[in-house]
Amino acid sequence: MTGTVVVVGSANVDLVVDVPRHPAGGETILGGDLRRTPGGKGANQAVAAARAGGADTSFVGALGRGESAELLLASLGGAGVRTETVDRVDAPTGTALITVSPDGENAIVVAPGANSRVRVGAAQARRIAAADVVLAQLEIPLGTVTAAALERRQGALFVLNAAPSRELPDTLWREVDVLVVNEHEAADLAGAAGTPEDLASALLDRVPAVVVTLGAEGSLVARRDTDPVRVPAARVDAVDTTGAGDTYCGVLAAGLARVGLAGLADAARLAGAAAALAVTRPGAQDAVPDAAEVAALAEGDQS
Ligand code: RIB
Repeated sequence: MTGTVVVVGSANVDLVVDVPRHPAGGETILGGDLRRTPGGKGANQAVAAARAGGADTSFVGALGRGESAELLLASLGGAGVRTETVDRVDAPTGTALITVSPDGENAIVVAPGANSRVRVGAAQARRIAAADVVLAQLEIPLGTVTAAALERRQGALFVLNAAPSRELPDTLWREVDVLVVNEHEAADLAGAAGTPEDLASALLDRVPAVVVTLGAEGSLVARRDTDPVRVPAARVDAVDTTGAGDTYCGVLAAGLARVGLAGLADAARLAGAAAALAVTRPGAQDAVPDAAEVAALAEGDQS
């Protein structure tokens, strides 16, 4: 069974420069050559669900009308993502300004452009209603995220990657089946500091399942009805962490579409393997591994 995923979210052209270190406020530094690559949390997650996760994946987003839009459509299409539900609008395609330091860490500023116009119209609603999993993030209007969640069919899962961190309205909290956050986002949403277990436990008051991603340490999977599980990550040399969290979310959604919420920890194992591979390569969508590579690393980790 393949499973059907609809990703609702942003698409950006990433303008990336390698830097010796991230500049401080008011400082100018020299970096490497400029790279122009496909990105955006939503589009990255869609590529990951399709290429690394093997899911039948559709993307709901909005792009401008120029060359940047073509770059993104080519990347999405190349990964096998369906793009009929992507609107073309009279606004510039989203753009992200990214610096990457030698340890692979990034700093990102996003100019949303067309992402502010992502909407759930009739065509998008039909596609969402046919999905096993609907996956969204927070680089598009919150009203659109909530509308997408409400269009899912009975029994389908709504997975929210609450990135970048924003306060969530109750109308959205109520719809979340699985919340995926890093430690910073978890602390923001929980309104407190603590261990990943503490944060997950606080967030379980609001949603039935929480995944806290822990970078090189893997992830924590927590559900109301079972003990939390730590899922370790493979040790790799990080070149560029941009989009690794998105690869994780896309593969997690693909896994959930195949096996449902009962298989959350197994889906997290595959997602962790995919994210570990992604950080060994530069770029966001360009770094997403294929399903065979993910399976090989995940199986190797268990032996
Ligand atoms: O998560 C990484 C992504 O964040 C980048 O591709 C950039 O476009 C921003 O959306």
